Amino acid sequence: MKTAKLVYGGEEYDLPVFTGSENESAIDISKLREQTGAVAYDPGYGNVGSCRSAITFIDGDKGILRYRGYPIEQLARKACFSEVCHLLIHNHLPDEEEFGLWRRELTLNSFIHEDMLKFFEGFPTKSHPMAILAAMIASLSAYHPEEERGQTIEKNIIRLLAKVKTFAAFSYKKSVGEPFVYPLTRYSYAQNFLRMMFATPAEEYEPPKVLADALNMLLIIHADHEQNCSTSTVRMVGSSRANLFASVSAGVSALWGSLHGGANQAVIEMLERIIDDGGDCKAFVAKVKEKKSRARLMGFGHRVYKNYDPRARLLKKANDDVHRKLGIKDPLLDVALELEEIALNDEYFIERNLYPNVDFYSGILYRAMGIPTDMFTVMFAMGRMPGWIAHWKEQRDTPNSRIHRPRQIYTGTTERKFIPISKRPKSKKG
Ligand code: ACO
Repeated sequence: MKTAKLVYGGEEYDLPVFTGSENESAIDISKLREQTGAVAYDPGYGNVGSCRSAITFIDGDKGILRYRGYPIEQLARKACFSEVCHLLIHNHLPDEEEFGLWRRELTLNSFIHEDMLKFFEGFPTKSHPMAILAAMIASLSAYHPEEERGQTIEKNIIRLLAKVKTFAAFSYKKSVGEPFVYPLTRYSYAQNFLRMMFATPAEEYEPPKVLADALNMLLIIHADHEQNCSTSTVRMVGSSRANLFASVSAGVSALWGSLHGGANQAVIEMLERIIDDGGDCKAFVAKVKEKKSRARLMGFGHRVYKNYDPRARLLKKANDDVHRKLGIKDPLLDVALELEEIALNDEYFIERNLYPNVDFYSGILYRAMGIPTDMFTVMFAMGRMPGWIAHWKEQRDTPNSRIHRPRQIYTGTTERKFIPISKRPKSKKG
């Protein structure tokens, strides 16, 4: 067995080394504290593998992303989202019969318990749809508890995948004051979602093929991305044996932040601000480079990709197709293309390997579909659902998996004595 040698405190330790199926090396430090008394320190976990996983492979230097071995480019162009959900969760592409049943289940389970509609009445009209989504998903635990009434985990997986689009579309309908629209079995996942968003009792909505295809691709592109902030959150919560809905709801909350899934909304706000300020992209990039401005070029950079994010490449092309076929002229797309051109030729971005990430072009595509900006992160969550579920299930199915419990290096005050309030010196504050 290969080992790595650690010399610490005058002692030598042999740490086991193992490799993954794509030859990624890992030094096993799971016994480090036991053996040496010290812990490993890695804020932000950039160098730590928290699990073994057989779901998604990323090579950030080469710009490779594969789900269960299939390259993202092939899935995004040729597969449908429901098929990819099956692939991620069950580790194989379904045959025709399996797929028929799977797709039907995904539509039949889209309906939500009528009592849950009352939740929508209770939320303020201006609620952020991510707040609604996280709350509704957590509430599913109350309606479909895991072990009671013979409910199986598999059934709850279908329920979650199916109902998330209903929650998302209903939160939009609530915000515009229109009646809710339920899905139809004859439509795909993407077509149903667009129809649930835009059909009204007065007018049917037949989703244009180019938009349904683009949404299908968007959902596939977002479906999994190994140990990112939200997926690791799902695994962290799930490690305590919390149920599927509770764990995934935590993932939705983690996704919301502007450095993660919230970046797609932040990109659009940034592009709008640049236009409002006169459209000077060079001036904006110059400001981003001044550290004290604390501004970032949103939709650029990635912890793992130090090359062009393959998802951003697919989305750039999809934007081009949709805008051309539908004759849409979006000034935000022009600004995005100009920003990309400037950044990719600028030393600051070249030195730091900063390229467009998945969020740089996704928002512009959502705009072309008529989806409002504050729904963008919800769209990301809908896409990421099969990935979160697959990781939660993988962890649940791993024998003897341990609760996640990192260590810390304490830097606070050392022991001191309690002083009763009457004897305490006056606080120096203010
Ligand atoms: N604009 C300007 N500078 C940047 C950017 C950016 N978007 N991203 C990174 N940098 C700079 C940092 O200032 C830092 O510079 P320094 O070395 O001079 O201090 C260097 O590049 C490294 O950046 P880190 O923050 O250490 O990189 P990290 O891996 O921690 O962060 C992240 C990755 C959060 C994605 C970051 O690139 C970022 O904030 N991007 C903008 C937000 C965004 O688009 N998030 C979506 C990511 S994709 C996703 O979650 C789905």
